[in-house]
Amino acid sequence: MPPSNPAATIRPQVGPACEGRPQESFGPAHTVPEPCGIVIFGASGDLAHRKLFPALFSLLHDKVLPKSFYVLGVARSAFSDDGFRSSVQKSLPGDAGSEPSFLPHLYYLSGGYDDPRTYEALKQRLASLDKEYGIQGRHLFYFSMPPALYETIAAQLGRAGLVENRGHPQGWVRLVVEKPFGYSLSSAEELNSVLHRVFRESQIYRIDHYLGKETVQNILMFRFANAIYEPVWNRKYIDQIQITSAETVGVEHRAGYYDGAGALRDMFQNHLFQLLSLVAMEPPCSFEAEAVRDEKAKVMASLAELDARRIPERAIRAQYAEGVVENESAPAYRREENVPAASTTETFAALRVEIDNWRWHGVPFYLRSGKRLPRRVTEIAVQFKHVPTSIFRPILAEQLSANVLHFRIQPNEGISLCFEAKHPGSRLRMSTVTMRFDYEEAFGIKPPEAYARLFLDVMLGDQTLFARQDWLAHSWKFLDPIEAAWSAQKEKGLAFYPAGSWGPEEAEDLVKKEGRTWLTR
Ligand code: BG6
Repeated sequence: MPPSNPAATIRPQVGPACEGRPQESFGPAHTVPEPCGIVIFGASGDLAHRKLFPALFSLLHDKVLPKSFYVLGVARSAFSDDGFRSSVQKSLPGDAGSEPSFLPHLYYLSGGYDDPRTYEALKQRLASLDKEYGIQGRHLFYFSMPPALYETIAAQLGRAGLVENRGHPQGWVRLVVEKPFGYSLSSAEELNSVLHRVFRESQIYRIDHYLGKETVQNILMFRFANAIYEPVWNRKYIDQIQITSAETVGVEHRAGYYDGAGALRDMFQNHLFQLLSLVAMEPPCSFEAEAVRDEKAKVMASLAELDARRIPERAIRAQYAEGVVENESAPAYRREENVPAASTTETFAALRVEIDNWRWHGVPFYLRSGKRLPRRVTEIAVQFKHVPTSIFRPILAEQLSANVLHFRIQPNEGISLCFEAKHPGSRLRMSTVTMRFDYEEAFGIKPPEAYARLFLDVMLGDQTLFARQDWLAHSWKFLDPIEAAWSAQKEKGLAFYPAGSWGPEEAEDLVKKEGRTWLTR
């Protein structure tokens, strides 16, 4: 193994640009969307309050919401418009109450999701709000609720004639749906066909909030706005790629959903596979939605299927047992609120996958995600090959650390490159040092909230950062055999790890048996 001497690590700080002054290049001027009405189904729910309203508020604050807009919340709970406004106000930053241009734009409609009268009332409400706000038939529907309700609501919207805006040449109707997008290939196809009965694919925006993160978008800029990486971005120079998404939180209050999903469906099928697609895709022919999504779908289509024999050794699943996370004791998953005492749901998974195409054939991609790990970090580590031979005898080639490029998705967002450097002095001595780009330091601001960017893109009609149906189908096709094997095995093959550790021994062995270690700790 290469010598590792963290104490000797030098961290030269690299400024925002080579000469200290940022060299900027601009795309088209920032576009403010046309006036539109936003309708949020599930408006009294947790996601709406935690993410959606704060995201809309931050867009207003950044002056990128349309000049004229309204937000109509729909849910079963009974609220007046004013009652709804005060409940939303509690989810906003402290000074939001004094912002006259947000809360008064919020309205509320209560009703059962399967009751046609709700949609008649919705139609009338939209007509009067459209008139008041001068909205030319532009409506964004957001399904912020469990997918079991999607079919009912989509069908009712269709029946009420709310999915097309025929009277308005400039009008549009767009639908935003939240994950999970199915539970398996067949349920994902069923969900797609349910939505397609009413909406066209070009109207559907499937949210994966990871794609709204600045650091995730920056993977494309890093790869395709710089000339030096692309020539070495392939099997000839890259030894392995690792993607880790570690959380310190446990299942929280979401056992009802999570226990039926597990880490593979909750984190891999969407977030980790999106990161994998961005890091592995071919250069698209343009930065247009379909061009980018075509290349991402090709990555998923090229995933080498894990056959039954390989699953036990390449797909590790585990559940957290009691332990200590960030100095606080944490109960075992099976002791968490609403989790069945004999649950075999995985809260941690690690996969070794290969992308069978000319660029990546033979390069292992190790993916790992879990709850109740020692710290919160999401990172992609690209490790290059070792130097072929060493001229620095007696130091051998394999004693020199291989270069590693880290994309730090969160927190402390940035990118760093580790390389070998000489120690000062006459003795031949080298250490691994790090060149670092830090978002906040370089640009002076914290990366904005993912949901805000995604909302804006829906209003602008840009689907680049949303999952397309063929991408989803490929991802489920790959995961289905693993899920089937795991559910057939029940507890057999399920490992346990103490809360606060980096997962089970089996996950360490996944990389160790191939002479590697996890690069993110
Ligand atoms: C969600 C998952 O999609 O992503 C959660 O359902 C997970 O289980 C969350 O905690 C992680 O998101 P982030 O942005 O905190 O990494």
